Amino acid sequence: MNRRSFLKLSALAPAAATVTLGSASRDAFADEILTFAGGEEAYWDSIRKQFPITKNLLFFNNGTMGPSPLAVTEAVTKQIVHVDSTADYGYDHEKLNQSIGRVLGGVPGDDIATTHNVSEGISIIASGLRMQPGDEVLLTNQEHGGGAVPWLARAKRHGIVVKFVELDPNDDVTFERFEKAMTGRTKIISVPHLTCTMGYLLPVKRLAELAHSKGAYLFVDGAHPPGMLQVNVKDLGCDAYASCGHKWLLGPKGTGFLYITKEFREQVMPSWSGAEADKHWDYLASDGNLEFLPTASRYRFATQSSSLYVGLQAAIEWQEKIGFAKIESRILELTKQLREGLAPLAAGKFDMLTPSHMMSGVTTIKLKNSKRYIDFAHELENKYKLRTRIVPENDLEANRFSVHVYTSEKDVEKFIHGVGDCLSSV
Ligand SMILES: Cc1ncc(COP(=O)(O)O)c(C=O)c1O
Repeated sequence: MNRRSFLKLSALAPAAATVTLGSASRDAFADEILTFAGGEEAYWDSIRKQFPITKNLLFFNNGTMGPSPLAVTEAVTKQIVHVDSTADYGYDHEKLNQSIGRVLGGVPGDDIATTHNVSEGISIIASGLRMQPGDEVLLTNQEHGGGAVPWLARAKRHGIVVKFVELDPNDDVTFERFEKAMTGRTKIISVPHLTCTMGYLLPVKRLAELAHSKGAYLFVDGAHPPGMLQVNVKDLGCDAYASCGHKWLLGPKGTGFLYITKEFREQVMPSWSGAEADKHWDYLASDGNLEFLPTASRYRFATQSSSLYVGLQAAIEWQEKIGFAKIESRILELTKQLREGLAPLAAGKFDMLTPSHMMSGVTTIKLKNSKRYIDFAHELENKYKLRTRIVPENDLEANRFSVHVYTSEKDVEKFIHGVGDCLSSV
């Protein structure tokens, strides 16, 4: 998703109220989506009730782990029972690839490989891209470990050079820094779509154009946007994009996926492999030859947990029933409410690190007395059952909050109250 469409959507009013009737059970949601005059908040309330987490916590850390609605948990458990009672352990991974393709803006399933997490998608690229010792990769100074370690591991193995470029809230500055950092040896730019630290939304489209204009590639660590903001990888122009099911898509933990274009697949050799990544190798028939699948499934191999991927399929279908545009506008509305609630509490107490023009589901603040950031998070949890994330990366010593469709406006009010109270002791 580019910045312009993001800002345009953020300005949209929430879509017309379409809600589930009857009990808010999983079945009611799955089978009876009806128009209801109960209003927008009643609609979101019916969705919220499908998340067991809401009974236990004020959960403001979807950025780390997305709790699943009952429909997903049930799909996973049903499939476990199915496998163990029938020995039928496969699943329709082509259908899943197509569904993931829709999440990413309508790309073919052939360009998708399922993985187990974001880091695996990043590792496929970092370990498999054809590079010579001395070739360079540009990263940002705000990488998650999953975004940096695969490249640093490659550097240790093969002597490639990893360079870090500092991000700025001003996209033009960030762009110029990348432009300046590029050399004749730069093979690829690898950036997060949305940083896990300060919640920066990067100018991915411009960086893709920059990379391509210099004969390099653009890879995106898309841990966060899918299931939070609408994503269109074709529009972004990236060569590959890695994400997961276990954050904003609210799917099973240990599910991920990699989008990689046909052209880029020619540059990225599968590093680990096994049966099903190839065109059916056979000792007698293949004459010693190995031919990988032409599709992105060449990066996926061997026995998989069908229950988890059936659960990911269910998670995507569950979100599609609501609609990705509607999910995005709800998350942005809640974040707006959260930021407006925080604003009057800030004076003398904290700085807002996430710029308003990069608003998403993730908001990071830094206490003036930042040494107390862990105590602050503990106090929020102990007093208000409010689960948030600390941001220790790069000595940032900050606190991060995120919201999703199971968050209610009342939750945000309770969050603001809790933060206001706990700020008094830091
Ligand atoms: C930006 C970013 N990249 C990568 C990761 C790693 O994700 P995973 O554990 O699915 O590999 C995370 C996890 O929080 C992240 O925020």
